[in-house]
Order: sequence, then structure tokens, then C-alpha cells
Amino acid sequence: MPESAFTVPVAGVAMTAIGVAVIRARESERADRLYLDPLARHFADAARAGFEPERWTRLEALAEQFQEGRSAGVRLLDDRVREAVDGGCRQVVLLGAGLDTRAFRMDLPADLRLFEIDLPELFAFKEAVLSRVNAIPTCARRVLPADLRGDWPKALSDSGFSASEPTLWVDEGVLAYLTPPDHRRVVETLTQLSAPGSRFGSGRFALDANAGPYPELRRMVSGDGDDAPAASASAGFDTVEWLLAAQEWDTEFRTWDDQVAPYGRNLANGDPRIGTFQAVRR
Ligand SMILES: C[S@@+](CC[C@H](N)C(=O)[O-])C[C@H]1O[C@@H](n2cnc3c(N)ncnc32)[C@H](O)[C@@H]1O
Repeated sequence: MPESAFTVPVAGVAMTAIGVAVIRARESERADRLYLDPLARHFADAARAGFEPERWTRLEALAEQFQEGRSAGVRLLDDRVREAVDGGCRQVVLLGAGLDTRAFRMDLPADLRLFEIDLPELFAFKEAVLSRVNAIPTCARRVLPADLRGDWPKALSDSGFSASEPTLWVDEGVLAYLTPPDHRRVVETLTQLSAPGSRFGSGRFALDANAGPYPELRRMVSGDGDDAPAASASAGFDTVEWLLAAQEWDTEFRTWDDQVAPYGRNLANGDPRIGTFQAVRR
């Protein structure tokens, strides 16, 4: 394994966060970029030093296949975060935060508490890189190395989370990695922790886990060993159903095509079932 100043997650699900950082770094370098994430290049460069060159080439090729759609997704969520904050929300929880840098790049207010939940191996890398470049968040950022299949609510409350204040919960590509029962448990738990007015957004998508980039993604996540579990193709649909069934949220669905139209890129997929929903806690 190449020498690196950092402990780089070169396999396992935490590795997927590096792929998204590569995507954000590339987007940030475009003249017509949808957002600017200067830290993404630092993450990508620091990660590359820990990869075997051939494996890094594969990771970049994989990121390329997700580039356009994933990048637009980042911008969509930036807009959701901005909207919630402008509406007075002062508590944000990033589920599976990965190498997200909204705490640093969005000029979020100092009285906003932003909780980042992800696996310990992800933060071992992320915090080391952030510290090396002296990155300073504009809001009150709290880092929670925790497994979403475990007791993450305790980690949240120990870090100053208040269940009596409205929260914006962000799922940006993590819940689909959980098994349907774990996915469901997370949604049930965050429902319990959500004061009226809290928001939860999640993607509704349809993917064939055995086609396109997904088999290679699984191979890389598993470190080219045993096949890792596929992302759950129906996760988004199920989540909507649970929320509606529980009648504890008002939900609004918007198709992907409608949402990305203003970006002026060729991103439409023509499938009206695919999109995101925003749920507001009653
Ligand atoms: C595709 S990445 C997305 C990261 C980030 N949301 C973004 O968009 O850049 C998925 C993230 O979910 C995290 N993750 C996966 N399973 C998890 C679990 N059981 N508990 C906590 N985090 C998890 C991974 O470590 C990884 O950082």
C-alpha cells in the first residue's frame, strides 16, 4: 500500500465518500459550476496518495460515471439547506456526511448547529485533512463518529442536539447503503427526534444494481473481495410509503427533471417516478 500522511479508507463504504469528493472537486473546477467546494480537491489529493495507482484510476472512472447526476444532487441539497436556514432552522443533521463541507463553504450562521454523522474510519481521514489545511467552519460543527445501525441518537444528544427544536435531516446517498430494516429504523428514529416543522428530504430513485456502474462500485467497496451488499434499489420508494403511512409528515414530491431544469444541463431522465421528496413534520 502506498505511503500516505493520512489513514485513507481505500475500501469499505467510507470509500464512496472519496468518490463524491472527486465529483465535487471536478465540478468546482468548471467555469459554469453549480457550487464551489475548494476543500474537495484537498480530500481528493490526500486520498489519491493512499491508493494503489490502478485502483485510483478505477475510482476516478467510477466517479466520472456518476459525475453529472451526483453533482446536480449536491446543488439541489445546497438549495434545500439554504431554504431551511433562511426559514429559521438552526439545527441540521447530515446522515452519512462523508466529505461534505457545507459547514465550511456555505457561510452558514454561527448559531447553526450542524451535526455530521459517519463512520469512525471516515472521520479519521476527514478531520486529519481539514486540520492540515486549517479549515474553519462558519457554523457550530459537531462531528459524530457513529454507525447509523447503532446508537447514534445517544451520540447526537451527547453533542448538544435538541429534539425540541426543528431539524433539517439530510440523506445524501447514505440510507440506500443500509438494509431495508436498518433504513427503516433510521427513518423511525429521526421521526421520533423531530420537532414539528422539522424537514427530511430523500431521493426516490430506481436503479438496476446489476447494471451500469453498480457492480464495479460494489467490487471497489468490497476491496475486490466478496461482493458487498448492493444499494437498496427501492429504498426511496419504501421511505415515502413509511412516512405517508405513519401520517406524521406532510410530503411533497418533485421530479428530478423539474428540479434540474433550471441548471441548464442535459440532466433529464424522463422518468416521472424519480425525484426527491421533502417531508415536513406535523
Ligand atoms: C456515497 S457516500 C456520501 C457521503 C456524503 N453524504 C456526500 O454526499 O458526499 C456514503 C457515506 O455514508 C457513510 N455510511 C455508510 N454506511 C454508514 C453507516 N452504517 N453509518 C454511518 N455512515 C455510513 C459512508 O461512510 C459514506 O461516507
